[in-house]
Amino acid sequence: MPLSSLRKTTSPVSQGPPLLTAEVPRRPPLHGVPSTLLIPLAARAAGDAYFPHLACDDAVAARQLRSLNVDVSAYLADRLTVLNILWRTRRIREAGQAFFAQHPQAWGINLGCGLSDYFQWLDNGRNTWIDADLPEVMALRSGLNPPCSPRLRRATLDITHPQWWQALHLPQHALDQPLFVVCEGVLMYLQPSQAQQVLAQFATHAPARSRMLIDTLHQCAVGHAHWHSSVGRTGAEFHWGIRHPNELCASHPRLRLRQLHSVSECYGWFGRGVDALWNPWIGAPLYGLAELVV
Ligand SMILES: C[S@@+](CC[C@H](N)C(=O)[O-])C[C@H]1O[C@@H](n2cnc3c(N)ncnc32)[C@H](O)[C@@H]1O
Repeated sequence: MPLSSLRKTTSPVSQGPPLLTAEVPRRPPLHGVPSTLLIPLAARAAGDAYFPHLACDDAVAARQLRSLNVDVSAYLADRLTVLNILWRTRRIREAGQAFFAQHPQAWGINLGCGLSDYFQWLDNGRNTWIDADLPEVMALRSGLNPPCSPRLRRATLDITHPQWWQALHLPQHALDQPLFVVCEGVLMYLQPSQAQQVLAQFATHAPARSRMLIDTLHQCAVGHAHWHSSVGRTGAEFHWGIRHPNELCASHPRLRLRQLHSVSECYGWFGRGVDALWNPWIGAPLYGLAELVV
């Protein structure tokens, strides 16, 4: 696929189409992996009630869900997934707040953003944020999100394209300081070579001290999405998982693993016990959040 077919470029949100109202479909026109965006959207919009200690207070998700008017009760009934998403949201948000405290004018990028909105929490008045996803998702997003800030941009791209980084069209001043990159709930749906290519592109192009946060599945989950109460409903499949944390840095010599958090930390003593028993055998968390740095 030529780079020109990546449809577009980044643009300030204020240039997007107006907010959809009555014409919003009851079912978003999404299938397969893009349709999985409803799982984290439901968790952030309504999960706080189940897990107040991890509440994310996501007013944007709640509004988007009301506008979409879709039935997400089956996703909310999958309480473990709701918990896992609230946990990763909190971790990413805290990492972003710490990063922008150090680099207040830096740029953040959310690859495979779905309908998530981290800028509601990370906007410090000086930083810039790019939300990027496939064309059908960005079209849905444009319809749902009203204009709000010239420092909030959008990019329509496919991260399996070998030149997706160029499609971000980052200006030089964005590259004069470290970047904060998020890619959550995305890489496990890619082929292993594609996931490694995404990490390698980040490592090749990002300025020193840039951060990338990704969530990881263990290899044992690959090919078994049908067992997952929420993902199993969407027809999407898990293709990429890890057996050892070292695999996260294997695609490029600049990549370093700063931390790998296990989701077990939100399951208290029970989770820590299971981790202690399993880790020597399986080598990596069943589900984790990795902080990579170049
Ligand atoms: C489970 S959703 C996660 C959405 C968002 N990151 C969140 O946590 O709310 C997976 C997202 O990955 C996006 N995605 C999948 N393959 C992609 C690709 N090749 N390029 C860009 N985005 C992709 C989908 O369109 C979808 O929005």
